[in-house]
Amino acid sequence: MERLEKVNNSLTEMAEKKHPFLARLLDHTFSTPGKNIRPAITLLASNFYPHDERNTEKMATGVELLHIASLIHDDTVDGAMLRRGKMTISSLWGPKTAVLAGDYIFAASATLVCDTGNIRVIRRFAETIMELSSGELQEMAETYNPEQSMQGYLGRIYNKTASLFTTAAESGAILSGAPEACSQSMRSYGHNLGMAFQIVDDILDFDGTEEEIGKPIGSDLANGVVTLPTLIAMQRRSCCDAVKRVLANPDDEDLMKEVVSLIQDDSVLEESYEFASRYCEKALSDLSGLPPCPSRDSLEELVSHVKVRRN
Ligand code: FPP
Ligand code: MG
Ligand code: MG
Repeated sequence: MERLEKVNNSLTEMAEKKHPFLARLLDHTFSTPGKNIRPAITLLASNFYPHDERNTEKMATGVELLHIASLIHDDTVDGAMLRRGKMTISSLWGPKTAVLAGDYIFAASATLVCDTGNIRVIRRFAETIMELSSGELQEMAETYNPEQSMQGYLGRIYNKTASLFTTAAESGAILSGAPEACSQSMRSYGHNLGMAFQIVDDILDFDGTEEEIGKPIGSDLANGVVTLPTLIAMQRRSCCDAVKRVLANPDDEDLMKEVVSLIQDDSVLEESYEFASRYCEKALSDLSGLPPCPSRDSLEELVSHVKVRRN
């Protein structure tokens, strides 16, 4: 998509005209583009009504920058060595540099969103930053806790992931001057797609290969993070005790392997994929009231992609 290219070009331009250290950090960050799903959603959601496209391109860039900033902070918090197959800022330059680089990019995202001049969108963006941080804190607070509910998990993944998908979609519609019903449909689409996206991410932690997901299989559980497949496994009496034991003894490698293979059971994974599919169906029905056009087709394709993605 030509407009998505403009988003990536403005990221590269951001690295220019900065002092050498900052330029190096930004260059390192932007030289490997990500999947661009969130800015693509903003641009596609804006395509239903003719409007000044500069505003929606700024928003799409802001959305991608916020995502990138949150990943830099996330890698710092998680102590991750690799992101998109490359060394992370925190592993190369240390956590202090990574926190400040994340802050810089995070603030850069806010300036772009302010440039849209739309208070409703600016407010929604600020709320999203609160939701992202709150989701990360919830995840941290619940690490190794065996008493977790499905509702708690769904709230956590909304904050951590679906919130930004929601904002990406809703802001595209709002900034294009779409009628309120269209903005609400896009909001709901972003929410449902974001939930499905994170659920699939959590499933791939058990069902993917190390090559596909770029990290060891079962690393969420090894880090004490309880996700949907683990919650579903815990609903089976035969697995519940083993999961509780491993959360209390995460350094027991044999037990960890045993529990990971219990969670990799076909019926557990199938039930987890069904959960994601239900959100995908809802996302598709959110699109059904919108006028048929190539952008609607692309938004539908994104749903199919999320369902079958392997990385
Ligand atoms: C990836 O999760 C992380 C997120 C989806 C959100 C991270 C958000 C923050 C750190 C909040 C603070 C951010 C700002 C800019 C205020 P993961 O660790 O489960 O997935 P991974 O495998 O991609 O690392
Ligand atoms: Mg992480
Ligand atoms: Mg994390």
